[in-house]
Amino acid sequence: METVLSGIRPTGNLHLGNYYGAVRSFVKMQYEYNCFFFIADWHSLTTHPTPENIQNSARTILAEYLACGLDPEKATIYIQSDVPETIELYLYLNMNTYLGELGRVTTFKEKARQQPDNVNAGLFTYPTLMAADILQHRATKVPVGKDQEQNMEMARKCARRFNNIYKTEFFPEPQNFYFAQEAVKVPGLDGTGKMGKSDGNCIYLCDEPKVIRKKVMKAVTDNGPQTPNSQKPEVIQNLFNFMKIVSSEETFNYFDEKWNDCTLRYGDMKKQIAEDVVAVIQPIQERIKEFASNQQLLDQIARRGAEKARESAAATVKEVRKIIGFRVY
Ligand code: ADP
Ligand code: TRP
Repeated sequence: METVLSGIRPTGNLHLGNYYGAVRSFVKMQYEYNCFFFIADWHSLTTHPTPENIQNSARTILAEYLACGLDPEKATIYIQSDVPETIELYLYLNMNTYLGELGRVTTFKEKARQQPDNVNAGLFTYPTLMAADILQHRATKVPVGKDQEQNMEMARKCARRFNNIYKTEFFPEPQNFYFAQEAVKVPGLDGTGKMGKSDGNCIYLCDEPKVIRKKVMKAVTDNGPQTPNSQKPEVIQNLFNFMKIVSSEETFNYFDEKWNDCTLRYGDMKKQIAEDVVAVIQPIQERIKEFASNQQLLDQIARRGAEKARESAAATVKEVRKIIGFRVY
């Protein structure tokens, strides 16, 4: 069975975009592949968070992913900093990675511009740590967004170079994994492109129904359909795209017909969307609360995940030590 691995940056709460665009696919994958999902808390050190926000955000994310249906019995779910074996591989990979290529990574250049007083070596070697995350489990498929393509190219380079230097085929080259035929894009309700944290237009899985209704009712619209069967302007198309994701086909068709015969009232459509979003989110939210109030269970799940991940990483590091010529105990 092929091994899939994905790293999750602990950058706050999950929103509907994360849910439909990524997490739901992770839930499906765990039944088809040998999956590793981990919270990349070492990577988050590049921006120097405090110990409190490190601990809290790892736990929050863990509770939210479990609530969405990630199953610790099916997938290996762990926290990056619980697996020290990664660092040994990171060191070996760094020895074969060059300043020039790391300096050309656009995410590095961008971060260096954003935080000019903190251009640290960890930031510079972010791609080799990511390569170590992947290669330690010899994963072949990595579900990532477009912004990670360059990091993935570096991970493949690390694998290839190691294999060439030591004349081995030990590391498979990890491939970007686009799991859905057509990636679901959850639009923002502010009339612009997608829902995203940096766009400030998110509906979060932890939003109370009251908040959800308020956010949906504020969705940008226009003054309504004027001629039958006309093409929808972008903001309205956005609203329909959103409805297609959260509502049933029947509901969607009902409102689509109303658009076509010019009897659509946006208020009714938004109310329907709000209720459908609440229906999706409410059961997840209840589970988030259950997990979040049971720290003991969260710790137990993280510990079990770490054990499985360490076992897999240790086996790889042992082989790597042999290949390089170090003693193996
Ligand atoms: P954000 O910073 O807004 O939380 P990220 O860029 O960290 O989002 O994305 C995390 C994951 O969620 C990625 O796999 C990305 O493809 C997915 N994702 C984020 N926003 C959306 C969206 N609006 N529609 C579909 N997928 C999304
Ligand atoms: N760099 C990824 C991001 O910003 C997170 C990440 C860290 C990752 N290590 C990984 C993703 C390994 C996939 C595989 O989203």
